[in-house]
Amino acid sequence: MKLVDSIQRMATLSKMVRKEGKTIGFVPTMGYLHDGHMSLVKAAKKHTDFVVMSIFVNPIQFGPSEDFEKYPRDLKRDEELARAAGVDVIFYPSAKDMYPPGYSTYINVERLTDRLCGASRSGHFRGVTTVVAKLFNIVRPDVAYFGQKDAQQAIVIKKMVQDLNMDVEIKVMPIVRESDGLAMSSRNVYLSEDERKSALSIYEALRKAEGMVASGEIDSKKIIRAIKDVISQKASIKIDYVSIVDTKELEDLPEIKSEALIAVAAYVGKTRLIDNVIVRLSPKILPDSEKKPGVRR
Ligand code: PAF
Repeated sequence: MKLVDSIQRMATLSKMVRKEGKTIGFVPTMGYLHDGHMSLVKAAKKHTDFVVMSIFVNPIQFGPSEDFEKYPRDLKRDEELARAAGVDVIFYPSAKDMYPPGYSTYINVERLTDRLCGASRSGHFRGVTTVVAKLFNIVRPDVAYFGQKDAQQAIVIKKMVQDLNMDVEIKVMPIVRESDGLAMSSRNVYLSEDERKSALSIYEALRKAEGMVASGEIDSKKIIRAIKDVISQKASIKIDYVSIVDTKELEDLPEIKSEALIAVAAYVGKTRLIDNVIVRLSPKILPDSEKKPGVRR
């Protein structure tokens, strides 16, 4: 496994790999790797010939009062995990190389980024799309892998790729959870033992919502109420949002018609966690308008 910190060297290496006729799978990360990241590497190794992982804590996607300074970092540990997982290159550029003095170009995906996390993290997605576009230009991947935990991020990146005709396929891999259900996140390390226990209620609430949909509830207000009731039993949690939206435009759905993203963001103590589930109505529950003609159910 190679460790590359130079943008130029990374670009040259990618060019050579492509010249050999190999496909490049790319896993962009901010490091402090966990099994969620490793599931992306596994998928990249299965479907592409050469796997590049970037590790870059991107300053421009953090707000001034957010956790950029204290975001967990441990390159040595990440290096060991990446090597064991069969990553071919770790690309870890510096902030001063990525954003040299005078840097002034940003990418903004409109509308999709105003809602959900975008509503409370102003400028966050502009920072994400800018760095991901830069990384794509440097690494030139055939396929790039993102996690479903950051559902809005994945949708925003897909939109950027589509709108800007970027020649890369975006694959979104399922959420990886701890054995008790907590979604894996580098930020889980901030949680105290008690907060860690309270944080579980986010997934419990989402499970409850899934159950409600499975038994025929399609009224988003009722489902959101039920989610909030479960989470607000924990005094240390402050809900940022609970939303039920469609999976393309992220528009609020008053009723679940076929498929919906149920997304939660909440502060557990000072730590902001996000989680989500995608629900699909079973054919029996689908309203007639959503049933395809000619399909027997
Ligand atoms: O999901 C992340 O870790 C980051 O937002 C990403 C995609 C690596 C961009 O900095």
